[in-house]
Amino acid sequence: MGPLLHLGGRRTITGKSAGAFELPADELVTHGVVVGMTGSGKTGLVSVLVEEALKSKVPVLLFDVKGDLANLKLCFADPTPEQVAPWVEAERGDPDGVADAPVVQAAMERHAAELTRWHIGAPELRSYVDGRHIRVITPGSDAGEPLHILSARERRSPRWDHDVNGARDTLAAAVSVVLRLIGREADPGKSREHALLLALAERRMRSGAQCDRCCQTSSSRRSRR
Ligand SMILES: Nc1ncnc2c1ncn2[C@@H]1O[C@H](COP(=O)(O)OP(=O)(O)OP(=O)(O)O)[C@@H](O)[C@H]1O
Ligand SMILES: [Mg+2]
Repeated sequence: MGPLLHLGGRRTITGKSAGAFELPADELVTHGVVVGMTGSGKTGLVSVLVEEALKSKVPVLLFDVKGDLANLKLCFADPTPEQVAPWVEAERGDPDGVADAPVVQAAMERHAAELTRWHIGAPELRSYVDGRHIRVITPGSDAGEPLHILSARERRSPRWDHDVNGARDTLAAAVSVVLRLIGREADPGKSREHALLLALAERRMRSGAQCDRCCQTSSSRRSRR
């Protein structure tokens, strides 16, 4: 059996405690859905699910269109007030809007008490923080790590020197993305545009010419007009 993910406690409909809620990781091999009204705790549950998966060394790939899950990075093994302060809400009416030291201290104490309540001690926390490697990739923005899906079309990969078929497959995938973006047939087996664009792009790659140079040249030409 795979690892058990400890998601919290079960309660009956009347609120009576009904033991731990543990989900065997191998029950997550197909699909699942979390539903609930606004503010009912969907994001909280998914965050715990992800933390538990990471703790069990289950790799996780998240597509987050809402932007709350980057908070998973917010975990300190041995927090100091300076590290925590920017993430603590200041008291209402606080003149500079920055949480004061007693507020930060109280938040840290609450947090430590909750961790203790869930039997998460310093060693577990340290092992969780050291054992995960979270990357926040932000296509179309440099808020996190930017992702450029067309780079295979623009820069010559060293693979062209030792793995031509692999490099061609990557380039073909990038050409398909371009065709799909402009609403044309993108299937390499059916698309005449794909065959033509791939041949042109491959010729350019093999000759070592870079696409971004052409783009810069045309945009600088435009800006000189
Ligand atoms: N299991 C829980 N026990 C106690 N409080 C919780 C629990 N889960 C979430 N909360 C708290 O409830 C509030 C709303 O939770 P959350 O953001 O997860 O809801 P949501 O269903 O994702 O909301 P939305 O629909 O707006 O995305 C948060 O302040 C969170 O701290
Ligand atoms: Mg939510």
